Parts: sequence; C-alpha cells; structure tokens
Amino acid sequence: MAHKRSKFSSRFGFIAAAAGSAVGLGNIWKFPFEAGKGGGAAFLIIYLVFCFVLCYPLLITEIAIGRKSQRNPVGSFKILGHSRWTFIGFLSVLCGILILSFYNVVAGWVFGYFVEILLGNFAIGENFESFIADVSEVGGYSLLFMVVTAFIVSKGITNGIERASKILMPALVIIMLFLSIYALTLDNAIEGVKFYLIPDFSKVNIEIIYRALGQSFFSLSLGMGALITYGSYLKKNEDIITSGAIVTLSDVFIAFLAGLMIFPIVFSQGLSTDGGTGLIFVTLPGVFEGMGPVLGIIIGSLFFLLLSFAALTSTISLMELPVSYLVDQRNIKREIAVWISAAVVFLLGIPSLIGNGYSAFFTEFITYFGADKPTDFMTFMTDIALNSLLPVGGFFISIFAVYIWKRRKLFRELSYGNEKFLKSWIAKYVAFCLQYIAPVVLGITFIITVLEIFFGLHLFS
Ligand code: PHE
Repeated sequence: MAHKRSKFSSRFGFIAAAAGSAVGLGNIWKFPFEAGKGGGAAFLIIYLVFCFVLCYPLLITEIAIGRKSQRNPVGSFKILGHSRWTFIGFLSVLCGILILSFYNVVAGWVFGYFVEILLGNFAIGENFESFIADVSEVGGYSLLFMVVTAFIVSKGITNGIERASKILMPALVIIMLFLSIYALTLDNAIEGVKFYLIPDFSKVNIEIIYRALGQSFFSLSLGMGALITYGSYLKKNEDIITSGAIVTLSDVFIAFLAGLMIFPIVFSQGLSTDGGTGLIFVTLPGVFEGMGPVLGIIIGSLFFLLLSFAALTSTISLMELPVSYLVDQRNIKREIAVWISAAVVFLLGIPSLIGNGYSAFFTEFITYFGADKPTDFMTFMTDIALNSLLPVGGFFISIFAVYIWKRRKLFRELSYGNEKFLKSWIAKYVAFCLQYIAPVVLGITFIITVLEIFFGLHLFS
C-alpha cells in the first residue's frame, strides 16, 4: 500500500507541536480553578503524581502506536490489532470532537479578552458573566477561532503548526514568569503561595482525585488519540522517550507556573479560590489595571494574545483528529475534511456557547441525581468528555498496547531512536505501569467518577 505521509521536519518541530497541543487552556485556564477548588497544594501534588507516574508511560505509548501504524487512531487500532478494536479509535475521534466543541468557545473568550484589554477595558473582569452571555460577540470570536484553526490545519503539518509553536511557546513562558514575579510583590501574596504550596491533605477526597486525574489527561492531551495522530507524522529515528519527557515536563511546568501566577493575585484581591471557570478572567484584568494604563494594556493584551496562541496550537491538534480520520479512512481530500469537521464542531459547540446565561435551557441543562443545583452544558460536556471518556480511552489504550499489539512490539518501536531504552529502568516501569497500574487505576477511577458525578453516589464520604 503506497502511503506517503507528511512528517515533522525536525525533532524540535515535533516537540514544539506536541507541547503546543499539551500546553493550552487546560494549563492556564483550567488548572488554576481546579486546583483552587481542590484545596491548592493537595491538588497540585496529586496532579503531579498522575502526570509522571501514570500519564508519561501512556503518552509515549500513544506516540509509538501512531508512529508504527502511520495512521489516525481508527486506522491505528485496526492495523496494529483488528477491526474489532477500531471502537477505541472512534471513541478517540468522538472525544476530540466533543472537547474541541467547548474548548473553542473558551478560546473565543480568551480572544475577546485580548481585544477588550487592548481597547483599555479593564472592567471586563467584573463583567465576565455578562461578557460570556453575549452570544453575538463571543460567538463571533469563537467562529473566528474555528476558521483560523481550520485554515492552519488545511495547510498540513509542517508549514504553520511547527513554525508558529516554536516562537509562541517561549514567548508565553516569559510573560508568565514576569506575571508570577509581579504577583508575588502584591499585598497578601504570601497567603496565596502558602495555599498553593503547603498541602493540607485533610481536604483530599475522592472527587479531588478523579478531578486531578481528568485534569492530567486533558492537560497532556492524552486518552483520545491526539498524540497517536501526531506520532503518525514522526520520523522513525526520533527518540520518543526523551521527546515525551520534554513534552510532559513543559506541560507540567506551565500549569505549575499558572498557579503561581494566579493564587497570589486571588489572595491579594481578597477573592475566593473557588472562582470556577471565571477564575483567570475575573482576577487578571484588575491586576493589569494596577500596572497603570500603558503597561497594563501592553502586558494584559499580550498575555491574552499569547494565551490565544497556546489555545490555537491545542485546537489544531484536536481538529487534526477528525481530519486525519476522514483523510486516511474515508479518502476525503484534506481541505474538504477540514471544513466538514470545522462546521460540525462549531455547530456542536453552540449549546456550550449559549449555555452561559444566554439560554436558560442550556445554562441549567441538567441536574444530576443527588445534586442540588443544575449543571450548565459546558460543564456537562467536561464531565462526559474529560472526566469520564479520557480515563476510559487511557484504559483501553494501555490494554491494547500490552495485550493486543503486544508489549514486545511496543518496546521495539520505543527503542528506535533510543537504543538504551530496552535495558533501562524506564522500560521496566513502563511495562509495569501499562500492565497493572494504568488499567487498574483508570478502570476503578472511571467507575467511581461516573457513580459520583452522574448518580450522586458518594462511596467514600
Ligand atoms: N492539552 C490541551 C490543554 O491543556 C487540551 C487538549 C486536550 C488538546 C486533548 C488536545 C487534545 O489545553
């Protein structure tokens, strides 16, 4: 079968794209509010343990699956396993579509903030609720975001995705470092640092654990084949073990930094750490305002612009999932596949868009069993796609890799580009993790998550 697939042009290009996929709104928007809800330091520690102990082995496994099969997730499970296993691939593509549908709406908020702060509107922080309920404005920004994503994806892998990631990611890190240092100089900042760095394990409950798990998967773009897809564009001689470690470390570092930037601000402004999805949107504009009109506008708009770019490298990788499926499996031309996917995803995102105050139906979409308040559509989507489906994806991917594709073949693939791997302790650990830790932890957490979130059954409290 003649199958010529485009490839990342360099190792750095692959790392930048994979780190670009990983680093995004998950780190800077979602991580701080999850950590805020989950007791700060305690959440941080559980999250870090999941990232290194559980996610890293799965991350390199996904990349290896993609590189070996040279296909999208659906094709991968068929080629390396059997057509019976393609359901894992379909689950991945579905999950990518669902995540992209609401992610794109939040990306619209971020881009809107860039514009508002550029115009000197620092009051946007206090008006967050009415801003996200303004469907025509946010809808316009989200549509723009989707179009830009689709345009870049339609151009293919090397031109665009690689080049943009290489410049924008370092710029984002610099500005976040600046903001964290600035935040530390604010009054009462030290209370925020304490909240973020001194754990109080008495606060830990099962909900914190499954939220930290969902967050680690989401943040590393795991459990739904995004990295299988990127792996399929990777050259044979690239070292997956090291590249995967760099991607994991960069992602964790940026999430950590986001917390270090936000919590001192939250405490200095006397706000609640439980600010939910609005946390960064409500707190940051006030801080920019405090820097004075000129500096505030420069730093504030630059921050939201770079955050838009971080989101863009993630939406690109999400969009690549349905696109690579349509191109590889359905023989549809790339340009057409892209616009079909963009249209479907945008439409699916509409309930998330209007479920933030505009439409009462989607704002109070569902009341879970045993819950006292209704849940909005976007939160419902994150509960389904992120807290439930990603761990399921991870469960099946680990089982597939060791028992169906077989560990020996996986390890052979991982050793291309890193000859020392097979004899290293990492190999032993990865084997142990995929065989035992991942299936057991993910399987159990999935069951508990579903029972707790959707059925209100609190097994451990
Ligand atoms: N990892 C991205 C983030 O943290 C989100 C994402 C999830 C991207 C899954 C691709 C696939 O923002």
